[in-house]
Amino acid sequence: MISSGSVERTLVLVKPDGVRRRLVSEILGRFERKGLGIDAMVLRRMDDRLADQHYTEHLAEPFYPGLRAFMTSGPLIALVLSGDGVVRMVREMVGATDGRRAAPGTIRGDFATSGRENLVHASDSAENARREIAIWFPDLD
Ligand code: TYD
Ligand code: MG
Repeated sequence: MISSGSVERTLVLVKPDGVRRRLVSEILGRFERKGLGIDAMVLRRMDDRLADQHYTEHLAEPFYPGLRAFMTSGPLIALVLSGDGVVRMVREMVGATDGRRAAPGTIRGDFATSGRENLVHASDSAENARREIAIWFPDLD
């Protein structure tokens, strides 16, 4: 699926812990087996500027400095997934923010034990998905 059309899209990051822990294929495999389309993907390092753009809603949070240090600590995978209802579907597959509370069967529930190093980012609304996709993939149609 290359053209945007009316199919919903979401922005996913396999965070630096996912790359370090060699969980990229496990995580991407779940989205592939679910049947979601991959519209764009890149291996990239986040710098402070990109982190501040991506996490603009969290800039004033007490956890933000630690979050930014973690997100810029190594390469990550950024990708755009597409499919009907994909924003909500992917959030459910990713699970609750804190890996210690995320349900088994979700990515965080199965592989994360931290409230910060939780393997995956996924857009939380269609509006945020559009905003985040424009940051990571400004040339995507
Ligand atoms: P948030 O957007 O609330 O969670 P989610 O990733 O599930 O949408 O927070 C963004 C990231 O910030 C989260 O994935 C992990 C980190 N974080 C902390 O380090 N400490 C915290 O207390 C919270 C709420 C989040
Ligand atoms: Mg969020």
